[in-house]
Amino acid sequence: MSRGDFPEFLDLPPLSGARGTVRLPGSKSISNRTLLLAALSEGSTDIHDLLDSDDTRRMLEALVALGVKVEGDLASGRLTVHGCGGKFPQRSADLFLGNAGTAIRPLTAVLALSGGSFVLSGVARMHERPIGDLVNALRALGADIACTANEGYPPLRIGAGRISVTAPVRVRGDVSSQFLTSLLLAMPLLAQPVEMVVEGELISRPYVDITLNLMARFGVDVERTDWTRFRLSGQNRYRSPGSIHVEGDASGASYFLAAGVIGGGPVRVEGVGRASIQGDVRFADALESVGGVVTWGKNWIEASGPSEGQRPRAFDLDLNHIPDAAMTLAVLALFADGPCTLRNIASWRVKETDRLAAMANELRKVGATVEEGADQLVVTPPGRLRSGVIETYDDHRMAMCLALATLGGVPLRILDPGCVAKTFPDFFQRLSAVTQQAEVPVIAIDGPAASGKGTVARLVADALGFRYLDSGALYRAMGLAALRKGVNLDDEAAVMGVGEACSIAMEDHRLLLDGEDVTGEIRDERVSRAASAVATLPRVRALLMWHQRSFRALPGLVAEGRDMGRVVFPEAVLKVYLTASAEERARRRHKQLIEKGMHASLASLLQEIADRDSRDSTRPVAPMMQSGDSLVLDSSGLSPEEVRDRILGWFRSRTCH
Ligand code: DC
Repeated sequence: MSRGDFPEFLDLPPLSGARGTVRLPGSKSISNRTLLLAALSEGSTDIHDLLDSDDTRRMLEALVALGVKVEGDLASGRLTVHGCGGKFPQRSADLFLGNAGTAIRPLTAVLALSGGSFVLSGVARMHERPIGDLVNALRALGADIACTANEGYPPLRIGAGRISVTAPVRVRGDVSSQFLTSLLLAMPLLAQPVEMVVEGELISRPYVDITLNLMARFGVDVERTDWTRFRLSGQNRYRSPGSIHVEGDASGASYFLAAGVIGGGPVRVEGVGRASIQGDVRFADALESVGGVVTWGKNWIEASGPSEGQRPRAFDLDLNHIPDAAMTLAVLALFADGPCTLRNIASWRVKETDRLAAMANELRKVGATVEEGADQLVVTPPGRLRSGVIETYDDHRMAMCLALATLGGVPLRILDPGCVAKTFPDFFQRLSAVTQQAEVPVIAIDGPAASGKGTVARLVADALGFRYLDSGALYRAMGLAALRKGVNLDDEAAVMGVGEACSIAMEDHRLLLDGEDVTGEIRDERVSRAASAVATLPRVRALLMWHQRSFRALPGLVAEGRDMGRVVFPEAVLKVYLTASAEERARRRHKQLIEKGMHASLASLLQEIADRDSRDSTRPVAPMMQSGDSLVLDSSGLSPEEVRDRILGWFRSRTCH
């Protein structure tokens, strides 16, 4: 699946558990390094289990544009690359590398030392991702590289420089380890002894290890002293190993292993294991440290949750060595038994997006309290997760990580899910194959105005510990938004324009309109009238549909209002139509108003209720009516608690609650 095949958003159902086996797609880091090494080698290389994704396509296209001969189809995961012995046939090319850091960085180093003229560019975000430390290290060797827009950032124009090695090559290691990786991969092209010195603390070391490992597979040994000096003898050139297998993606494994811990498990990933050369397999150690149960095979890892009823333990971890998989821990923190600290992750800021800021935003949406530091996050899990609309920032890992929040029994809408095509095109299918959808019981309560359905629905929700949806409040918020913008309330297009632009959220019984608490204001009479008006517009009802359905989360939901049982939750286990005589309802409203110190005449209230009943039952859109399968409950003469108990009795007889 490529990016274009994905919808605008994906609605993920609430999940109740995870168990099963996932065969991982190939590792992006290994795939792109292997493609480049095979292209630079003498001889042909059969590559198996390559990752088919946006980033590997960008690398492959670039190599083909540089004249490298390739047979086979990336979609099959198997390619034969005919190496060019360190000299690309094409001496000039214009290469578009999307948002693939693992392509643009090593190609910059290799092309800068190759003699030729090349242009390297990418998507807008790529042009915001730093490459200056690499460019400067190459310039010190005599390379001719111009940053054509902003110094230190792509796009780059590379010319034929005068390369000479007179001193150790110095490179900074504290922004991205890919700079060192890129230089290491390119150095054998110089065919002379060369030493590289890392300045600053080298981050993400395990990724450099992958580089050294793969270089060795292609015949080049690097002598390493600590993590500061790397020496090449100048004797070795890249030679094809003949055939090579790409390991499964260890960062991708993190989502499934975490699912095993959060959702009970066991979940097994195949394609990485004890023999893996990827540092991200150490994510499994982090899972173990929070109470997960992890077992290792040569080519698989399996994870299960802590014992029944226990949550993962709160953690405080330095995650510099596993920056990508660390994102998965940020989401795991939602399920922990206390606040969790993720330290030493400043590199998140220069990845596909500013991942520190992005992660903080999205975790807050599902209910966490998040403190975002310069190089750390502190995540305090909420008592109960909330549903939400998740933005993904053109970042595959944001989408994959946040999807795990559905294991908290909440549905989520993921915007631009196609971003996963960068490294894991069928991620959502594989997640659904190893997870179970939650059976969320819904009780729908409808009835005429002033029938007491709000009070009763809340009492039922409290008694069962269920969530509560006051759907009327959502219509009221829409009405208020339309009033504030001064649009004509009968003008469907105008009201829709307002509705689509505003954000309505419910947090702990407070209603937020564009972030402002309007819980009190929506009870005004003018807002009631506006709500009635906008509630007759079919497109408004459709717009609020997802909102309402997003409340369907574990352990269950009591949803109150029009349409709840017939349209919004037709699958509800119990549908109640709560009614009372008009006189009784007028008396209740009268009593309420008197208690609030307001004056009202019983006769006029009765008239108001009769008018509203007739308006509600004759309106063409969503008229008030009982659904055929609802149970009618006449509450005249009953206290709210008596009504609650009647409903609880019905519910218990239909389920085992
Ligand atoms: O229940 P309430 O008074 O807060 O509802 C406000 C308005 O929204 C009311 O006119 C009915 C309408 N509404 C609706 O059409 N569908 C719902 N599910 C809930 C309320």
